[in-house]
Amino acid sequence: MDTNKRERPLIIIASNRGPFSFTQNEDKTFTANRGEGGLVTALWSLAEKHEVVWVASAMDKDDRKWVQSVQGKVQNIENIALKLIAHNKNQYEKYYNTIANPLLWFIQHQLWDIPRSPSITLDTWSAWKNGYVAINQSFAKAIIEIVKNANRPTIILPQDYHLYLLPKYLRQVLGWQVQIQPFIHIPWPGPDAWRILPGSIRDEILSGLLASNRIGFQTRKDAFNFVQTCRFYLPNTSSRGTRDTIYVQDRPVKAINYPISVDVEKLSQLTESTQNQLEKNQLMNIIGDRKLILRVDRIEPSKNILRGLAAYRSLLEQHPEHRGKVQMLALLVPSRTGVDEYQSYLKEIMAEGGMINAEFSDQLWEPVRIVVGHNYQRAIAAMQLYDVLVVNPIADGMNLVAKEGALVNQRDGVLVLSEHAGAFYEMGDYALNVSPFDTYGTAEMIHNALTMPQAERQERAEALRALVQKNDIKQWFDAQVEDVLQASTKADRKSPTPSTPST
Ligand code: G6P
Repeated sequence: MDTNKRERPLIIIASNRGPFSFTQNEDKTFTANRGEGGLVTALWSLAEKHEVVWVASAMDKDDRKWVQSVQGKVQNIENIALKLIAHNKNQYEKYYNTIANPLLWFIQHQLWDIPRSPSITLDTWSAWKNGYVAINQSFAKAIIEIVKNANRPTIILPQDYHLYLLPKYLRQVLGWQVQIQPFIHIPWPGPDAWRILPGSIRDEILSGLLASNRIGFQTRKDAFNFVQTCRFYLPNTSSRGTRDTIYVQDRPVKAINYPISVDVEKLSQLTESTQNQLEKNQLMNIIGDRKLILRVDRIEPSKNILRGLAAYRSLLEQHPEHRGKVQMLALLVPSRTGVDEYQSYLKEIMAEGGMINAEFSDQLWEPVRIVVGHNYQRAIAAMQLYDVLVVNPIADGMNLVAKEGALVNQRDGVLVLSEHAGAFYEMGDYALNVSPFDTYGTAEMIHNALTMPQAERQERAEALRALVQKNDIKQWFDAQVEDVLQASTKADRKSPTPSTPST
């Protein structure tokens, strides 16, 4: 480690899913596999460029065995200092499958069918206390140990909705010597959405987060909603007329937007690989000379895959001229299979796809292809080939598929984009924007995209590509770290006496 590096602060990333998962081989050795999910993709390159310890959960049996084999210590895996925590299994199950997904995720993406669900039962209360609270404490314990051993300035960056209580638990022990700046990757809805939670749970979440120095969100709207939610529910807070700062008594906590992006360099490398060419050849066998209408999603209710298929059906009904000339390809990645809603959602998708095929296919044409599996290379190859990319979530923090697609596409493809995706705020000027609930309107937009003059397609595609190239993932991280560093320099000069996290 050079001197320069030693003087720089240590950065601790805390996220539920880590950058690697492990598989134990027959000879008892371990293979490290790169983790999945937008969060991991986003944070991957950061840890390679800064001095970072990444703290995450052991997700399954083999991860736990790996933790045991390294005696729970921090290990360097492909240049990333990784600490996996083997939490109590029962607590972890409650935290992940009852509170984080679905409860918090469903609230923040507004997915609940309010007249019927959710019901906050004794099980939910128990999962809160013995699951979510316990696992946040387990993270705090591991991080506190790392901070104490490092004995140097430290920046802690908790990621996402799994760790809302962590800032407060850290602050209670570490005081104001550390900078804590969470980033919330998913939408933050306004105060009304949070009424689903019992008051005490909701207030714990808000006060947990308010123990941070600053909080990062994807869009200005999310940041604004957070400030409003705190104002509305916590009596000792106010925004003093600002849109982006919440005062806990006199201590300001800024809510800042840092729109996340993709790793431009890594994606470009992927498009040049031999594997990429093989995937493209296979896809071309399916597409032939038809126009490709693509979607790439985790199997996830908020992605609105069912209404996307309904829109495609409407396109084939309203504009029969496209029959046989287009190919809908849905590349779907299994996700959170332990949550009931996710299992039934996949069944409904397969049924809807089957019905469209039964109705419209002929000997030479299968209108919809649904491919379920984990194949990132295939997804990237498909994104290079689309004529229309459909991104129509009900709510989405950002949606990296929109950005990945815009970057790698080679056909001047048109982006049909939900106005409820975070990406809309950056890309909306050059996409064809839709309401995710309006299947007829989405069908018409797909039609517009398919029939758009070449010059306009090119103009829009080039603008979108330039936009993604300019706001790469590095900017996202650098902006956050820069803000923390600047704030800590100012604070050093002022020798602050900040309030304790008393909310
Ligand atoms: C998506 C979301 C992230 C979230 C992650 C968790 O990628 O965009 O905000 O942290 O899902 O996914 P997991 O598969 O770990 O439940």
